[in-house]
Amino acid sequence: MKLTIAVLPGDGIGPEVIKQSKKVLEAIAHQFNHTFIFKEGLIGAAAIEKEGVPLPQKTLDLCLEADAILFGAVGTRQYDNDPTFTVRPEHGLLQLRKSLELYCSIRPVKVFEQLLDKSPLKREIIHDVDFQIYRELAGGMYYGEKAVSKDKKTASDVCEYTEQEVEKITHLAFKAAQKRRKKVTLVDKANILESSRLWRQVVLKVAKQYKDVTLDFLFIDNASIKIITNPREFDIILTQNMFGDILSNEASVLECSIGLMASAEVGEKYALFKPIHGSYSLAKGKSIANPIASILSAAMLLENFGLFNESEMVQKAVNKSLDLQIITSDINKNSNFSTAKVGDFIADVIYYPDDSDMNFNNIHIGQSTII
Ligand code: IPM
Ligand code: MG
Repeated sequence: MKLTIAVLPGDGIGPEVIKQSKKVLEAIAHQFNHTFIFKEGLIGAAAIEKEGVPLPQKTLDLCLEADAILFGAVGTRQYDNDPTFTVRPEHGLLQLRKSLELYCSIRPVKVFEQLLDKSPLKREIIHDVDFQIYRELAGGMYYGEKAVSKDKKTASDVCEYTEQEVEKITHLAFKAAQKRRKKVTLVDKANILESSRLWRQVVLKVAKQYKDVTLDFLFIDNASIKIITNPREFDIILTQNMFGDILSNEASVLECSIGLMASAEVGEKYALFKPIHGSYSLAKGKSIANPIASILSAAMLLENFGLFNESEMVQKAVNKSLDLQIITSDINKNSNFSTAKVGDFIADVIYYPDDSDMNFNNIHIGQSTII
């Protein structure tokens, strides 16, 4: 298969982790005879610096012409610490989502066996956890009208949803549930918010078309407890933009590190693949960032094109790195494997699928950069 992939490294640790997922995709292309053409574009603070805007037209055009987008991260400390900037790196991602009509972020939460004792949560709570968050991505408070009063003492962000917006993502969520354990949990705040009551009505209506799927409701405040006390109760969590952003970060605690959590942002025509984490500016250039979230996002990209064996191979290689503890310090604080070493190792497992663990332990870890 020939795919053109727009690569947007962005800011902070974005470029470092993206390098690893590219490496892994190159290994897959080599092993399965695919051609992946990577085309890089600027986004976020990197784009503001060079072009004055967080999403230059050139970058948008690149994405519109590509088959898929591999995204790193956006944001820097300079912007985080100063709310007076009106042009912000994050706007690059928000504008891109809007322009490509990416309306759903799919965020899988699956706990790795090897890490059961690494999470701050007890193994009895997190074993066999396997759910997905379907986060609405094109509406809500992120895009609602924003206002600041003249005296700058009052500000507001409107949370607005249309029936059509809710309907679209609800169908996606129910279709996904049909292929899984057939349960959708709508997370909202319908006891308070009008927009949440609209969600309930629409979701109830759509649910009638999916009789084999159970629909459950949970208020966001309760959901935030259940996610860390009884996470196995979830299959598909369906929720609005802001709640999905927060819940997915909370859910990363189950997996032990946010550096493991991948996502696919999808619409009718385009798809973007990115770690759920941010730019982690403090770690920039230190080679300590975990590349696995980005690598697993690349695996989701492969799946999106029906390349299931390829995606499985990436996941197996990631599993091997966890088996052999070729991991970054967010998972094991005594580990001194760098971002690039973990990436090299995972790519090597793909290049040499028949080598034994012994060989990997002894040879590849030291040598792989010369391949
Ligand atoms: C995410 C991120 C983004 C979001 C930021 C970087 C704009 O936190 O993908 O979860 O809030 O959507
Ligand atoms: Mg987030």
